[in-house]
Amino acid sequence: MECRICNSTMKKFLDLGMQPIANNFLVVGDILDEFFYHLELFFCPECYSVQVGNCPEKEKIYHKGYTFYTSTSNYMARHFKELADDIKASVLEKDGFIVEIGSNDGTFLKNFRGYKHLGVEPSESVDSMARKKGLRTWNDFFCEELAERIVEQKGQADVIVTTNAFPHMIDRISVLKGIKKLLSDTGVWVNEEAYLGDVVSLRSYDQFYNEHIYFSSVSSFKKNMDLFGMFLYDALPMDVHGGSMRYLVSKVPPVAKSVRAFENNEKLRDFEHFEKFGEAIKESRKNFLHKVFDAVGNGGVVGYAATAKSTTVLNYCKVGPRLVDRIYDTTPAKQWKLSPGMHIPVVPYDSFKKDKPKNVVLFAWNHYREIMEKEKDMDINWIIPI
Ligand code: TYD
Repeated sequence: MECRICNSTMKKFLDLGMQPIANNFLVVGDILDEFFYHLELFFCPECYSVQVGNCPEKEKIYHKGYTFYTSTSNYMARHFKELADDIKASVLEKDGFIVEIGSNDGTFLKNFRGYKHLGVEPSESVDSMARKKGLRTWNDFFCEELAERIVEQKGQADVIVTTNAFPHMIDRISVLKGIKKLLSDTGVWVNEEAYLGDVVSLRSYDQFYNEHIYFSSVSSFKKNMDLFGMFLYDALPMDVHGGSMRYLVSKVPPVAKSVRAFENNEKLRDFEHFEKFGEAIKESRKNFLHKVFDAVGNGGVVGYAATAKSTTVLNYCKVGPRLVDRIYDTTPAKQWKLSPGMHIPVVPYDSFKKDKPKNVVLFAWNHYREIMEKEKDMDINWIIPI
């Protein structure tokens, strides 16, 4: 496969089999038409990025039935409030213009009511929630042409924010050209996304699915910015979503020491490293299956949080409703539906405490602290799926 960023030949290191669209929760009538694709992971020896190979078209993923709502985690809502406060204190003047790309249900952008703001969000289900909050958004896919329209109608942005959205945008070249056009000469682009170093060290292969197409180390993110004539001036590790990195990008140098330090220390530039990672994932699958089988014979197993990540794990490990009875989730749009591919029923979280399950797979392991706090009165054997 050819690298979508630098056109070099990529090397495959992981095959996660046939997978359904991760957030495509089904009603029974949809089962026969369910769409599957082959999920394989590649490493680029030139720009050091990791990418999902074959991907479903973006229109199949982001639409009026999209079911991921950013607001489902209180902890993340707090994290975004802190980011907004930081931006107001350091880079955005009261009369400045902020654009969020992938604004989802407005959880971050709502902190900028009273500022000149714009959200861009392709999934109508979540975008309509943002508009109900009184936010200005465009229900569309971001690309170079859309950026030109924003500049024409509203001017350049002083701050652009993408949180867990940039790796989702398959047309990276058009998106980056658009960001460059939209950002003012003195502006800052704040981008937060899963950090490849954490994915490898935690073996969190459940981060690989049709929405997360690109994974970067600091070295690869910097290379990508260099290629497009922008400057990565800082990289800040964040303890959210199982390990993230906040990248600060501008159109002018310099580059902070922290970026140089990552470049010197990251061991994420060799293919052998990823081959070992691929082997470790096979071990992880065995371990998970052992834990689930043991628990099935010892009180049964349920799941906690019907995450997109759970789709990768369940379909890769071939774990269906005979092993995991049901998955509890707080999102109304997922409840009383079947999980993608393996068709485990998703039920409302409300009855979780009353049902007193004994063995529970924590599919939202990235929200560990928030969930352990919420369930501290329960006596549960938690199973981490990775
Ligand atoms: P998350 O790990 O944020 O995302 P992803 O789907 O991208 O893997 O998980 C979001 C899902 O987890 C969402 O369906 C709501 C559910 N959830 C709960 O049911 N209870 C909780 O306490 C939390 C934090 C999430």
